[in-house]
Amino acid sequence: MRISVRGAAQVLLPPEDELPYLRRPNDLRLEPGSVTVEDGVIVALEDDPGADRVIDLPGGAILPGFVDCHTHLPFAGWRAEEYEQKVTGVPYEEIARRGGGIASSARAFAAASDGEVFAQAGEIRAEMLAYGTTTVEAKTGYGLSRAGELRAVRLAREIGDRVTGLFAHAVPEGYDAGSWMDEVDGLAADADVDALDIYVESVAFRNEDLERLGEIARREGVALRAHVEQFNVNRSVPVALAAGARSVDHLACLHPDDLAPLAAAECAAVLLPGAEFLGAERLAPGRALADAGAICVLATDCNPGTSPVSSLPVVIGLAVRRYGWTAREAIAGCTLNAAWVLGLQDRGSIEVGKRADLVLLDDPVEYIPYRFGRNPVREVIAA
Ligand code: NIG
Ligand code: FE
Repeated sequence: MRISVRGAAQVLLPPEDELPYLRRPNDLRLEPGSVTVEDGVIVALEDDPGADRVIDLPGGAILPGFVDCHTHLPFAGWRAEEYEQKVTGVPYEEIARRGGGIASSARAFAAASDGEVFAQAGEIRAEMLAYGTTTVEAKTGYGLSRAGELRAVRLAREIGDRVTGLFAHAVPEGYDAGSWMDEVDGLAADADVDALDIYVESVAFRNEDLERLGEIARREGVALRAHVEQFNVNRSVPVALAAGARSVDHLACLHPDDLAPLAAAECAAVLLPGAEFLGAERLAPGRALADAGAICVLATDCNPGTSPVSSLPVVIGLAVRRYGWTAREAIAGCTLNAAWVLGLQDRGSIEVGKRADLVLLDDPVEYIPYRFGRNPVREVIAA
């Protein structure tokens, strides 16, 4: 099947082919043009009137498919009642005491059948696709036991394009952080995952556990990622950089002294403005990170607690307004740079030979953040 999308006002193109990521996303070119794909691959940056299907896009834009590199799929159910408590002023600790938080999603996950988890995740992936997301990372983390986490890996494989073992999400009952890390070590050895992740926070794991996970990730030959500096300053970024992390995620409380080393490192700053907005968290220093040339990335953090958000266009809108980013900076963060976080070189930009993951808009890209909340996507071509 050959499809030609032609006459767009804007085709978003990298400054050159085969770049792994962009530290200066404003170098992205937005030029009038056409794109032709065949059998799931981009075959030409021109139109083909003889294609099986021709789509005219006058005034519109052609973008690479969005890559959501940080979600917490699979999970079971939502926690809407907690959100109302949160906005009306009930502290997080109190919500947890009332049985909420990660533990409540862990109970729901244990109680749900595989079929129920797949059904919910399928609905969420369909929403994501409708908003232009063609690649989704899935994480474990609601298993909270050895068997539960192995089940989460198995389900995540079916749901996501890449699987991250967030085995160190919360400390399960009967363990302390150190003794659960022994289980994490075994899980990492036994489970087939593409990356390992950890939640470093006063209520979860410590910098020394992050250091240890770095050694485990090196041994297993998988990427290290880390949830850091979300609610408190823990100075986890230098630890993550020393451990060779591929990404540090959240960063709402990034210490100013850690910004320049992060920007200089080959480690992505994954910012999650949905969680920041809905949790009334501090704002990650998105503008300063971009100015310093960091590998900036955006993701939904889609999860039932802090960010029940599935739309990357909404996340782009938040990032543009709240970090002071251009549309190009935000889009690079959830296309090429996000693909790099996941180690997927076959997608993330419009280049001949890459996967035919394309988002078609009726308007120029600047309309994504501007018409905030509206779905800007006319059609998605997913390989
Ligand atoms: O990325 N911070 C830790 N983990 C998730 C929240 C998980 C939950 O509340 O269920 C996050 O925000
Ligand atoms: Fe997260």
